[in-house]
Amino acid sequence: MKAIVYTKYGSPDVLQLKDVEKPAPRENEVLVKVQATSVNAADWHLLTADIFLVRLNMGLLKPKNTILGCDIAGQVEAVGRDVRQFKPGDAVFGEVLGHNLGGFAEYVTAPESVLALKPANLSFEEAAAVPLAAKTALQGLHDLGQIQSGQKVLINGASGGVGTFAVQIAKYFGAEVTAVCSTHNLDMARTLGADHVIDYSKEDFTQNGQQYDLILAANGYHPISDYKRALSPRGIYVMTGGSLAQLFEVMLQGSRMSKRDGQQYRTLTLKPNPKDLPLLKELLETGKVVPVIDKRYSLSEVPEALRYFGEGHARGKEVITVEQMNVN
Ligand SMILES: NC(=O)c1ccc[n+]([C@@H]2O[C@H](COP(=O)([O-])OP(=O)(O)OC[C@H]3O[C@@H](n4cnc5c(N)ncnc54)[C@H](OP(=O)(O)O)[C@@H]3O)[C@@H](O)[C@H]2O)c1
Repeated sequence: MKAIVYTKYGSPDVLQLKDVEKPAPRENEVLVKVQATSVNAADWHLLTADIFLVRLNMGLLKPKNTILGCDIAGQVEAVGRDVRQFKPGDAVFGEVLGHNLGGFAEYVTAPESVLALKPANLSFEEAAAVPLAAKTALQGLHDLGQIQSGQKVLINGASGGVGTFAVQIAKYFGAEVTAVCSTHNLDMARTLGADHVIDYSKEDFTQNGQQYDLILAANGYHPISDYKRALSPRGIYVMTGGSLAQLFEVMLQGSRMSKRDGQQYRTLTLKPNPKDLPLLKELLETGKVVPVIDKRYSLSEVPEALRYFGEGHARGKEVITVEQMNVN
């Protein structure tokens, strides 16, 4: 099969379209014929090893898993003998970040636990835009953020992959949502349901006297002391991503401040939760959540897609359509 392969860490230039062996599913795994995949920050970090922890987990000198790609949507081609939920021909979607990745390819294997039937109203491309970013938004708002109806919730970085889902999911939970993004994304944030928008190029939300019950920081750095000002007395701050320095700032300073001040400062590590994908499927099928697709690419254009992602201004998601080329 064709796959986008990398054998050393580096820029998107190290990615190559190659013929590799088609994987075979184990007992509890499903072989998926990939119709579409999408780009996530995880692909960028695992490609560039810009965070040193990547080398500790994925291989010190070179990557152990040579095919990136976390999100997948496609058709079940074959199932292992212990698989109960799916059969060949089913249209499925899910994410394989915790399971050797491999979505930038014509076929991938995945445990059945990380897949769900594709929402009937979505194309494969739309479905592939959802899993990792939407699960991050859901776990950040719900599991760590303990979001409640009527709360004032601010999403910083509301126009990216995670942020566009976070705005819509926070509205689903009944929050009053403020979206922080740049000028050209303000209308999109309103369309997604934001009650208020703040243009970060004109206004610093940590300096305007407003306070929020929950702040989800998907993008855009502020020191934790700034966030403290913008949080209500018992407010919760959840950071979904950032540099190692930012992570340590929240983990060390934030945990001290959490004990002292009543506000909570938390960092998100995505966890397997079998309830997430079925809930997202329902929200997608009822139109409460709609994926925002910025750009579309073919499998051979994955390097280009990652270059664009690396510029840091994606508007929603970049999706890859995987046209089957040949099969070994
Ligand atoms: N913890 C986990 O398990 C997990 C899982 C998934 C993702 N993440 C993390 O979550 C973060 C967000 O991921 P993503 O996929 O949403 O990234 P993304 O799609 O690359 O985000 C791009 C967006 O960030 C916005 N942005 C850039 N600078 C900003 C600023 N100063 N203030 C506000 N917005 C700004 C851009 O808007 P403009 O063009 O308008 O500037 C653009 O829309 C990443 O750090 C990622 O590593 C963590």
